[in-house]
Amino acid sequence: FKRSVVVGCGSALPRKAVTNAELEAVVETSDAWIAQRTGIRQRHIAAEDETTSVLGIKAAQAALADAGLGVDDIDLIICATSTPDNTFPSTATQIQAGLGMHHGAAFDLQAVCTGFVYAIATADNFLKAGAHRRALVIGAETFSRILDWSDRTTCVLFGDGAGAVVLEAQDGAGASSDRGVLTTQLRSDGRYRDKLYVDGGPGSTKTTGCLRMEGREVFRFAVGMVTDVVEAAFALTGTSAEELNWFVPHQANKRIIDASADKLGIAREKVVITVDRHGNTSAASIPLALDVAVKDGRIKRGDLVMLEAIGGGFTWGSALIRW
Ligand code: ACO
Repeated sequence: FKRSVVVGCGSALPRKAVTNAELEAVVETSDAWIAQRTGIRQRHIAAEDETTSVLGIKAAQAALADAGLGVDDIDLIICATSTPDNTFPSTATQIQAGLGMHHGAAFDLQAVCTGFVYAIATADNFLKAGAHRRALVIGAETFSRILDWSDRTTCVLFGDGAGAVVLEAQDGAGASSDRGVLTTQLRSDGRYRDKLYVDGGPGSTKTTGCLRMEGREVFRFAVGMVTDVVEAAFALTGTSAEELNWFVPHQANKRIIDASADKLGIAREKVVITVDRHGNTSAASIPLALDVAVKDGRIKRGDLVMLEAIGGGFTWGSALIRW
């Protein structure tokens, strides 16, 4: 049988970082309000030339370099995004072209903030089935382009960026049989579609539209529901919060992350937090956080790492990985 093993990771951020204090000039807000309610201190905001695919290409190149691989070694690209450069073609094919890759398959996947976890699950199943050998799994977003910059309840929360991992199908019977994606748990419930959505699109206003959110409802659902996918992953693999080395949740809000970790019995020092410097980058937040924690030496080969996310739909999910 096969296992999907992470063999490299990388990320990319827009050049410009915007502090909370700088947002005080845009909407009636304060550094204190934003930091206290969300844990966010700054976010990166893309310039005109820094599109989702441009950030995705940079993250993919960094992940390939980290893995010591080239595009010829990759035969699948999955890009999780809700902010594609164009309605079509997919951002994944634009990244494929940007990498100079002319073989294999590339497609986008959209599950909003849960996108990266959905993309890991999808790539894992493609690799386990033997359909592909190595996948670039990317989360890339420019949420700054779908924000209503006059709405202080949403515009202070989000940022732009991209992250990527390389997943490789390895023989599970080999020496590295304990490494790889151990399980993925995906859920969605479309009854909550109006709690967090974009009010545009080809079938409605024919414009791109802006993000709309009932913040309190999202908060309640995020803390209330997220635990089921993590508990299911522990139960299915016979692992536990105590055995976990790192919890890398979607970076929406420090209060949601803290409450979820406490509820799951995961010690605070095992939680990777990057929302303070990246804001909420939707599908990019987990691979961005992974790259930070791998590069600063926290996440090491053999560590047990739990990814978890919740996003619009609602969608939510977890991925348990032996790094
Ligand atoms: N600056 C200053 N004041 C603000 C701001 C702001 N940026 N935004 C809202 N306020 C005001 C409100 O107008 C309100 O004022 P009022 O009492 O005079 O009416 C007051 O602050 C409190 O507003 P609430 O919305 O009740 O604040 P709350 O404590 O719920 O915090 C927040 C808002 C941070 C959005 C919270 O609900 C939250 O974290 N929700 C989760 C949403 C989230 O993280 N979404 C991310 C996307 S979803 C995802 O990634 C899964």
